[in-house]
Amino acid sequence: MSTFAVVNCAALVTLAGPARPRVGAEMRELGVIREGVMMVRDGLITYAGPRCEIDSDVEILDAGNRLVMPGFVDAHTHPVFAGNRADEFEKRSSGVTYQEISAAGGGIRSTVRKTRAATEDELFAAAARYTQWFLGGGTTTIEAKSGYGLTLDDEMKMLRVIHRMGPLRAVPTFLGAHEVPDEYRGRREEYIHLVIHEMLPEARKLAGLCDIFVEPHVFPVPDARRILLAAKEHGFKLRMHVDQLQNSGGAQLAAELGAVTADHLEHTDAAGIEAMREAGVQPVLLPGSVYALGLKKYPDARAMMEAGLAVVLATDFNPGSSPTPSMPMILSLASTQMKMTPAESITGATINAAYSLGLGGEIGSLEPGKRADFVIHDCTDYRELAYFFGVQSAQAVYIGGVHVK
Ligand code: NIG
Ligand code: FE
Repeated sequence: MSTFAVVNCAALVTLAGPARPRVGAEMRELGVIREGVMMVRDGLITYAGPRCEIDSDVEILDAGNRLVMPGFVDAHTHPVFAGNRADEFEKRSSGVTYQEISAAGGGIRSTVRKTRAATEDELFAAAARYTQWFLGGGTTTIEAKSGYGLTLDDEMKMLRVIHRMGPLRAVPTFLGAHEVPDEYRGRREEYIHLVIHEMLPEARKLAGLCDIFVEPHVFPVPDARRILLAAKEHGFKLRMHVDQLQNSGGAQLAAELGAVTADHLEHTDAAGIEAMREAGVQPVLLPGSVYALGLKKYPDARAMMEAGLAVVLATDFNPGSSPTPSMPMILSLASTQMKMTPAESITGATINAAYSLGLGGEIGSLEPGKRADFVIHDCTDYRELAYFFGVQSAQAVYIGGVHVK
C-alpha cells in the first residue's frame, strides 16, 4: 500500500498546531477530529482532516470506529542491556534501597558486567524483544541510550545495536558517563579522562546526542560540566539525568550548558525551573522510575507547565529504576501522580517529545508532510489511554505508512 486512506476513525487525534513545542494551554489542545480521515502517500501524510471524498482507486484502511493518533515518541530509554535485575527488585520489595544496592556493587554496575559479557548479536536479540513491547504500547520512536558498556568497545557495541534496531525508529544517545565502572572505582578522574579523550570522538560517529548521570556520588556538577563541555565541542547536543535522587543544581547546569533536555527532575526546585525556562530547556519527566523504585516524590509537573516549559513524558525503560516500555502506563502515572490532564500527557508523549529529539518537523503529529507514524487504539476517546491502566490498547501500528504490528 503506497497510497491509502484511513477511514472510520472514531476520533483522529492530530496534534496539529504551531511548528514548535507546545506550552501552557496549548498542551491541552489535541486537534481532535471526530470521524476524521487521513491520507497517506509513500509513507508521508498528505491529508488529515474531516471526512472527504476519496478516489475509488485509493486503498482503504478501516479503523473500525477506533481512536487514531500519532505513535508515541518515547524520548528517554535504555533499551540495550543483557539480563535483568529481578533479583534487585525482589530486594527492594523487602525494603533495601536503590542507593544501597548500588553502593554494594549492584545497580547500573551489575548490568554493565552482564552487558560487557554479551555479544552484539545477543544484545540485538534482547533489544528486538523489547522493540515488540514498545510497539505493543503504541510507541513508534524511541531515544535509545548506551551506558551499560563503559569501555570504548562496549559503548560502541551498544550504539551499533541501537543503529540496527527497527522497525521502531531509534535515535542513539551516547551515555558513557552513566556510572564509574568497577575497574575505575576510586579513580573517577581517570575514567573521565577516558570518556573525554577516547570515547567522545569515537561515539560521535554513531550518535549526535550525549547524556550523563549527574548525582553527587556519580558525576557531580563540576565533573559533569567538564564532560559536557567536551561533548559540545564534538558537536553533541546534550540531554542530562539530573536531580533524580537529590537536588544538586543539575537543572541549573542544564540551563548553563544549553542542554536540549533535563530529565528526571524529581528534586528540582523553583530556581531550577526558572533557570530551565530562561534557557529553553525541555523537562523530560519519568514517573515510571519514581513508581518502580517505590518512591513518593514525583517531579512537579504542574509548576513546570505553569512556568511555560514544554514538558515531555517518557518511560526511562531500563532494567533497574523503570522496567516499563509502556507509554500508556506513563500517561496513567502522569494523571494520577502528577496531576497532568490526559491531553497534557499526550502532548508530552508525542509532539513535545518529537521536538526534544530535533524531529518535530517530521513526527509527533498527524499533519500533511509528516511521516505516517500512527496507531489505531482499541478505544474511542483519547482519555481512555490514561484512564484504563495495565491495558495494551494498540490495535495496529504503522511506521512510515508500513504496518509493523
Ligand atoms: O534513568 N539514573 C540513572 N540511569 C537510569 C537507571 C539505570 C539503571 O538503574 O540501570 C535512570 O533511572
Ligand atoms: Fe534514564
